Amino acid sequence: MSHIPVLLKESIDGLVIKKGGTYVDATTNRAGHSVEIAKLLGKKGTLICIDLDQTALASAKRKLKDIKNAPEIHFVHSNFRHIKEILRKFEINQIDGILADLGLSSQELDDSGRGFSFQKDEPLQMTFDAHPDEDTTTAYDIVNFWSESTIADILYGFADETYSRRIARAIVSHRENKTIKTTKELVDIIAGAVPAIYRHRRTHFATKTFQALRMAVNDELGSINDLIEALPEILKTEGRACFITFHSTEDRTVKQGLRAKLDVLTPITKKAIIPTDDEINLNPRARSAQLRIVERI
Ligand SMILES: C[S@@+](CC[C@H](N)C(=O)[O-])C[C@H]1O[C@@H](n2cnc3c(N)ncnc32)[C@H](O)[C@@H]1O
Repeated sequence: MSHIPVLLKESIDGLVIKKGGTYVDATTNRAGHSVEIAKLLGKKGTLICIDLDQTALASAKRKLKDIKNAPEIHFVHSNFRHIKEILRKFEINQIDGILADLGLSSQELDDSGRGFSFQKDEPLQMTFDAHPDEDTTTAYDIVNFWSESTIADILYGFADETYSRRIARAIVSHRENKTIKTTKELVDIIAGAVPAIYRHRRTHFATKTFQALRMAVNDELGSINDLIEALPEILKTEGRACFITFHSTEDRTVKQGLRAKLDVLTPITKKAIIPTDDEINLNPRARSAQLRIVERI
C-alpha cells in the first residue's frame, strides 16, 4: 500500500517554513512531507532528508528531483538520534525547523519483507534499516536469545501488553524445541498463549507484541529522547520542531521529553493536534496520530 502522509497540512503549517531557511525531515521515507517542505523553501533553502531505510530514501530522491526551484537537498542514511553529527558534517550550526513523523511507513509494513506485519509470513527482522550490519539486533535475536523476563518487560513497557508474561513464557518454551524464524510462527505462539476472548477482539492479538519488538529492535524511544535532547542546541530562536506519534508509548515519550525542556521549548498548542474525521476516513492509519509542536525560545 502506498504511504499517505499524515497530518500533512497541520505539520507543514506548524513548521512555519521560511523561504530560504534550513530544515530537516528526520523521517523522510518516500518524501510525503519533504516534497511540501521543499516546495515552500525555494532555491535558496536547504533541506536535509534523513531516514534509516535506504530503499525509502532512494525513492524520496527520485520524487524530489521533479520539484521546480528546489532547495539544496542532502540525503542522509542514518538514525535521527545523530542529528548533531549530521548537521556538523554539512557545516550547519542551527536549523529553522525539524519534523519527525515517527514509527514506520505503510510500505515498510506491507511490502518490505522485514517482518513488521503479523498478517504476512516473513523472516523476523523488523529493522528500519533495509540492509543492516550483521551484528544488528533483530526481532529473531530477541525472541530466540533474550531472557523471558526481558521479553516480558519489553512487551509490557513498550506496548502495555496485558499478557506480556504469558506470551514471553510461551516464546521461551517454544524455542527450547525449535528456533522461531518467521512472523507466522510468532503469531501462532502468541495465539496459543492468550485467552480466547483476546483472540477475538477487534484489535489483532499480535498487534502489541509486534509493536513492542519493533520498538526494541530499533531503540525507538531512545532515539526520540536523543533527538529531543539535541533540540535546544540545534534549533535557532523561533525554530520549530514537529513530532507526529502513532501510539500512547510514543506520544508519552515525546510529551514528557518536551515537557522537561519547557524553559527553552514552548508548546505551540496546549493539546496535541489530531486528524480531522475527513482525514481519518481517507486514511484510517491516521486515526491514532497526534502532532506536537514546540518553538525554541
Ligand atoms: C511514518 S514514516 C514517515 C513518512 C513520511 N513523513 C511521509 O509522509 O512520506 C517514518 C519513517 O521514519 C523512519 N525512521 C524511523 N525511526 C527512525 C530513526 N530513528 N532515524 C531515522 N529514520 C527513522 C522509518 O524508516 C520510516 O521511513
